[in-house]
Amino acid sequence: MRVLGIETSCDETGVAIADSEHGLMANALFSQVAEHAEYGGVVPELASRDHVRKLVPLLKEALAEARSKPEDIDAIAYTAGPGLMGALLVGASFARSLAYGWGCNALPVHHLEGHLLVPLLDSSDIQFPFTALLVSGGHTQLFAVNGLGDYTLLGESLDDAAGEAFDKTAKLLGLAYPGGPVLAKLADSGRPGAYKFPRPMTDRPGLDFSFSGLKTHARTTIQQAGLTEQQPGNEQARADIAHAFQAAVVDTLQIKCKRAMQQTGHKQLVVAGGVGANRQLREQFQEWANGVGLEVAYPRIDLCTDNGAMIAYAGLRRLDAGLAEPTDLGIQARARWPLANSSSN
Ligand code: KG4
Ligand code: ZN
Repeated sequence: MRVLGIETSCDETGVAIADSEHGLMANALFSQVAEHAEYGGVVPELASRDHVRKLVPLLKEALAEARSKPEDIDAIAYTAGPGLMGALLVGASFARSLAYGWGCNALPVHHLEGHLLVPLLDSSDIQFPFTALLVSGGHTQLFAVNGLGDYTLLGESLDDAAGEAFDKTAKLLGLAYPGGPVLAKLADSGRPGAYKFPRPMTDRPGLDFSFSGLKTHARTTIQQAGLTEQQPGNEQARADIAHAFQAAVVDTLQIKCKRAMQQTGHKQLVVAGGVGANRQLREQFQEWANGVGLEVAYPRIDLCTDNGAMIAYAGLRRLDAGLAEPTDLGIQARARWPLANSSSN
């Protein structure tokens, strides 16, 4: 079984090919980061237009890389949500039309299921059931992953997602969009303990998160340190604040993950989504897991942020498991779409 995957939910255009026997055969990706950088965030209309421009070249690139012809493709999986409506519609219409032209099935896939399953692409050690922390720019959620397509939501952010808080705090520190990875780099030269940030919602039971207060705390700290977004100045103070912010986010995520693992009794934790690329998070989680006899798994770094591979792989797993019913000629796109115990059909 060979599946072409198409991702266009936000500011990355991804076209990839995954195969039951050969694994990931192609992963063509174009990031629109440079285009949105001058606006300090994603401009939805520009994102949609750029997906239109990039899909055909990326498709050609993916087919060439996988040495595949259209007749080798059994199905086309596409991100049907959640995401930016215009951007989703571009990918969904493209995928649906291509499938019609090639005479194969089009398969709507949940973007977050792609993030959750992609760590399994490289690791046969990860087995259902496991607990998953999904930390992206749009979501911070804890799931019990009971099996393929069977996800129980354990907790989630009541306001900002962790990645969103990274990006907003980075902006306050005068860092370029997308701020998460830039802030993480700056944090490397920060002095531990120079500033202390709260660990929100860890002093009460439950698995929900709240990160908007951390962003406000960062704003106040930055003002009190005499820094401004326009005139950041004092490199060491900025690095110290970045360090304190990152430590607070990672500690908070870890405290909740500990609780979640106690609740589920699972031995494996999968961390997925863009913030899963954070080095401090990976090191700290690894140390904790080793110490308590748990296993923590991540997708490889280039598959943490949005890509076509995760959509091709999720589509492939659903098809292999007989969970994907043939769809009609309709185009599915949902800006909001909860994952918990959802079906992609
Ligand atoms: O999963 P993703 O590509 O997109 C969504 O589905 O939202 O995640 C993007 C998010 C952004 O907020 C970005 O700043 C954050 O992941 N991110 C990071 C790092 N790399 C990406 N945050 C912290 N440290 C990183 N190294
Ligand atoms: Zn994503």
